[in-house]
Amino acid sequence: MKAYRAAIFHLVDNPVRTPNPAAAYQYWEDGLLLVEKGKIKAAGPAAALLPQLPEGVPVASYQNALIIPGLIDIHIHFPQITTVASYGEQLLEWLHDYILPGEGEYADQSLAQARAEIFLKELLRRGTTTASVYCSLAKESAEALFTVAQRLNLRLLAGKVMMDRNGPEGMKLATPEADYHDCQELIEKWHGKGRLAYVVTPRFAPACSEVDLQAAARLLKEYPGLYVQTHLCENHHEIAWVRELFPERKSYLDVYDHYGLVGEKTLLGHSLHLEDEDFRRVREAGAVLCPCPPSNFFLGRGLFKFAKAREYQAKVALGTDLGAGNTFSMFKAMEEAYKMAQLQGYSLSPFEAFYLVTLGGARALSLEDKIGNFEVGKEADFLILDLQSTPFLKFRMQFARTLCDQLFVQMMLGDDRAIRETYVYGVLAHRRDT
Ligand code: GUN
Ligand code: ZN
Repeated sequence: MKAYRAAIFHLVDNPVRTPNPAAAYQYWEDGLLLVEKGKIKAAGPAAALLPQLPEGVPVASYQNALIIPGLIDIHIHFPQITTVASYGEQLLEWLHDYILPGEGEYADQSLAQARAEIFLKELLRRGTTTASVYCSLAKESAEALFTVAQRLNLRLLAGKVMMDRNGPEGMKLATPEADYHDCQELIEKWHGKGRLAYVVTPRFAPACSEVDLQAAARLLKEYPGLYVQTHLCENHHEIAWVRELFPERKSYLDVYDHYGLVGEKTLLGHSLHLEDEDFRRVREAGAVLCPCPPSNFFLGRGLFKFAKAREYQAKVALGTDLGAGNTFSMFKAMEEAYKMAQLQGYSLSPFEAFYLVTLGGARALSLEDKIGNFEVGKEADFLILDLQSTPFLKFRMQFARTLCDQLFVQMMLGDDRAIRETYVYGVLAHRRDT
């Protein structure tokens, strides 16, 4: 058993859905987090917990620090670590010119494994302990990511991209049969193994024929408990293209729905340009909307309708969508989400923002019984935040009087330097250099 002493903050409910938002979180200015065998043993005020601590339990104490749950990135692309920050194009051209050609090399298992080490290390450096990850078309990319994630004992969700049409010239595409069999192999090897889960990942409707979408649906039927992730309504040209490709479908969402791909474990990346009927259907199906503000601003293609999602009580969580997103940081995703909401007259409170990247993310992934906050028995993925991580933050925090102010200042000014330590299943997985 080990104890961690500092201020502690976590969400116990969705602050915008509770009659009393203050009841949605807990905060102890002098708190204690007790961890045993990778699980949360207790969390509460130090004054109450310290006297009950068995003798000899080490207590790590931190000054000017805040302990929060590990962050959850609901949408990110592993192969795009080599193409992130590619200049000047809109979605479809950007994909064709920079992204898709760059994903081919991940068929080389040892290259993919070396890259997976880099990718996961960067996530841990930013305090992200769970993510839903798109790998490349090559099954080796997913194999490599799962291998490294298993060694790090991460709660990670991932899938190889399915894609059998509309690639750029020279790109080797899959066939629906190959997509099906490669996924099957990965599912049987990795899904439910330790803390890992498989996500069936049809890239997006324009890249998947009907037969490929059917193959995705077949996997879901044959292996209950799988997730699905894809892209939806990111850009008007993309939406028009989907309309041409699937003229008989009512909407872009309806394409996925038609093939049985929209359910409680479906993560719909971006979902920027949804109609009311789409929101209604998403809510009815219990699917998850995954805005990725850093990416949506990078590609310059629209604003997620936070107010509508709230009105329809749809499940929402945030992603970075690196490498259209230009960051791994969920702090940056919160910052950009705030700005995106502001542009629409919706003020995203720091409580809601932290909810979206912790408990909200866990609920979006149907993992709220395992991660997302410090309820007793949950897995101990947590961060020690340095509240004075830069000279200016140290100065600015003196003027942050309330918890709301403190969280907001961190969310607007903090970055990877704020992540002093990252713990995965109770084990130190990253410590900042200085
Ligand atoms: N749509 C299809 N593939 C992609 C991708 O890799 N990134 C983004 N942002 N949108 C996509
Ligand atoms: Zn994406």
